[in-house]
Amino acid sequence: MRITQLPALVLACALAAGAIGAAAQSRVDLGKREFESKCAVCHGRDGKGAGPYADQLKRSLPDLTALARANGGVLPVARLYAVIEGAGAGHGPRDMPVWGLDYTVQAQEQLPDLPYNQAVFVRTRILALIDHLNQLQVR
Ligand code: HEC
Repeated sequence: MRITQLPALVLACALAAGAIGAAAQSRVDLGKREFESKCAVCHGRDGKGAGPYADQLKRSLPDLTALARANGGVLPVARLYAVIEGAGAGHGPRDMPVWGLDYTVQAQEQLPDLPYNQAVFVRTRILALIDHLNQLQVR
């Protein structure tokens, strides 16, 4: 392991320890909680696309439970990461918020004085969401 990866590892362990501690008390699933508070308004709690805000959108919502099935049974993690982070934003209109930006702003507001790379905060949040999407898949 390169020495530059060490802070990421330390943070990942701290987050995992925190998550395990929290899970022991109330079984919090970070990805699920985030999905239900940020994504379900459009995508629906079950990810099928019937959230309360769906009618207001110009674009139709994809069925997020069929992502693996539509990709030969494998969740297309790299593509999902790019879509959620919003790296593809700018290539035409997009109804989906740019979450990478949102989480970067949160990292700056919530953790301004901590000496770690804010990109790790953003990455952890996005990976937790992808973990939840994985659990929603119909196999
Ligand atoms: C304001 C409504 C809205 C919210 C909130 C929203 N999405 Fe989306 N999402 C969309 C729309 C509409 C699309 C279809 C593509 C587009 O128009 O950008 C989409 C597409 C996607 C896709 C692409 C699926 C594919 O096959 O390419 C993923 C993955 C996704 N959303 C995940 C999420 C996650 C995770 C969250 C919460 C962090 C979220 N979305 C929040 C509206 C939303």
